[in-house]
Amino acid sequence: MKYLFANWKMYLGVKESVALAKTIVAMTRKIQKNNLRLALFPTSLAFTDVVSVCKGSRVAVGGQNCAWTPAGAYTGAVSAQMFRDAGAAYMIVGHSERRHIFGERDSDVRKKIDACLSAGIIPIICIGETREERENGKRQYRLKKQLMSACQGLDVKDNEIIIAYEPVWAIGTGDACAPADTDDVHGWIAHELRSYTSAQVPILYGGSVDAENVHNYLALGTVHGLLVGTASTKKESLAAIFRAARV
Ligand code: 13P
Repeated sequence: MKYLFANWKMYLGVKESVALAKTIVAMTRKIQKNNLRLALFPTSLAFTDVVSVCKGSRVAVGGQNCAWTPAGAYTGAVSAQMFRDAGAAYMIVGHSERRHIFGERDSDVRKKIDACLSAGIIPIICIGETREERENGKRQYRLKKQLMSACQGLDVKDNEIIIAYEPVWAIGTGDACAPADTDDVHGWIAHELRSYTSAQVPILYGGSVDAENVHNYLALGTVHGLLVGTASTKKESLAAIFRAARV
């Protein structure tokens, strides 16, 4: 069983999200094999519509970001609890675009993880180093810090949290992390996680995944699934990914 998750970021509006969700649900109905766990992460505006489309199908729906308190005077925010009530199974937390564009700190990410767990949502905790950090031999340092802040003291059962390794330099650049390198990093992350929990924690890879390279990652035992951005926002490329992944 592998995870195949589609992060639509701010690419698709309500109409496009609903249309693509319908196509995906129809595609998955035709395919008998059940070796992938699928989820869509639409804009919050389309969230409830996409949940309605996916109802009764094998496609789950998740949020792209949430607030860390359940309710209150937080203009513009949507809480994990609200997402849960609206049908969210998962939540992307600490995506590099949130960290680097919106200034989220490790401590903010941790508060969101705790909020998701309290609300009964599985957080997909994104970690990743910048190109500069990688080139200066600081990759492990960065990942260690992010993991420690996210996971220290967490009390979770198997598969209640997911880690997504998304190197910042690989996101939206076409410069995907080489499978052998990914294998090494994922092995290292799995080892690091043992300091925090004995529960099973799936580790996904994200960053320039497309129909050409998807199989290389899914073939790796250390990669439990993929978080796909750009290539998941178009019917043709997503269908090609499904075919390559043999959904
Ligand atoms: P791309 O697939 O566009 O590189 O984005 C990856 C990502 O950020 C998924 O969360």
